[in-house]
Amino acid sequence: MSAETRVVASRSALRAACSAASPGERRAVVMTMGALHEGHARLMREARSRVGPAGHVTVTVFVNPTQFGVDEDLDRYPRTLEADVDLCAREGVDVVFAPGPEVVYRDGDPQVVVDPGPLGTVLEGAIRPGHFRGVLTVVLKLLHLTGADLALFGEKDFQQLVLLRRMVRDLDAPVEVVGVPVVRDADGLALSSRNFYLDAGERARALAIPHALDLGAAAAAEGGSARDVVSAAQAHLDEAGLLVDYVALTDPWLDAPPASGEARLLVAVRLGDLRLIDNVRVDLAERA
Ligand code: PAF
Repeated sequence: MSAETRVVASRSALRAACSAASPGERRAVVMTMGALHEGHARLMREARSRVGPAGHVTVTVFVNPTQFGVDEDLDRYPRTLEADVDLCAREGVDVVFAPGPEVVYRDGDPQVVVDPGPLGTVLEGAIRPGHFRGVLTVVLKLLHLTGADLALFGEKDFQQLVLLRRMVRDLDAPVEVVGVPVVRDADGLALSSRNFYLDAGERARALAIPHALDLGAAAAAEGGSARDVVSAAQAHLDEAGLLVDYVALTDPWLDAPPASGEARLLVAVRLGDLRLIDNVRVDLAERA
């Protein structure tokens, strides 16, 4: 762990900062779009614990334009670099890479991109066409730029995590992807940079999301079927008057509806101009 956190914005400065890493030690990267919170801090701590004190931890802060649709919140996405750097320094991060779009996309929009395949067109991908192509493309670029051999992502963006694992496997990218459990506020709301925009009333209504997930998990724990789990969650969101984009129960690879065993319950709702997503593991009983 370096004594101080270096903040760099160019490719050459990143190369120089990363070359200060001890040879043979592991290099981890935590990729973010900034507006950092305790969920990101948890990723940084996990990164440090995996690479050890002599290893190297880079945090990237880049609001990636190619993963936002035309009607989405790219321009008003929170940008809080000073506070982000302070948090990274407190967590003993070695390097913060905070480039502008002209550094990451030095020739403008890339012509060659990563196609997320069929999984990129369901759930979030159905509502945000092109989103996962932008995510996978920038993640692959940032992996190359940082030279990391370990990359940590939060489970809150569960479909993103599954797709990233899939990309690494299908393209043989030489990196280990580590998923880190969702971090929640004391009242159960999953931490998200977008929570920043919730007013007190919206925040209170958003609590229906973790409650719905709890009800779904409880239905499974009581021996309910996949349909019971989805109905329990959906009914709660409907009662709370939230506009639901989807409530879905799938296997942990988002491949197929599960009959029994480990599954994921995923929800996406709209609150005013905002979309919030969350998910939880549920375990379905064996059925005769
Ligand atoms: O999860 C995010 O914050 C972003 O999708 C990521 C992985 C940093 C890519 O821009």
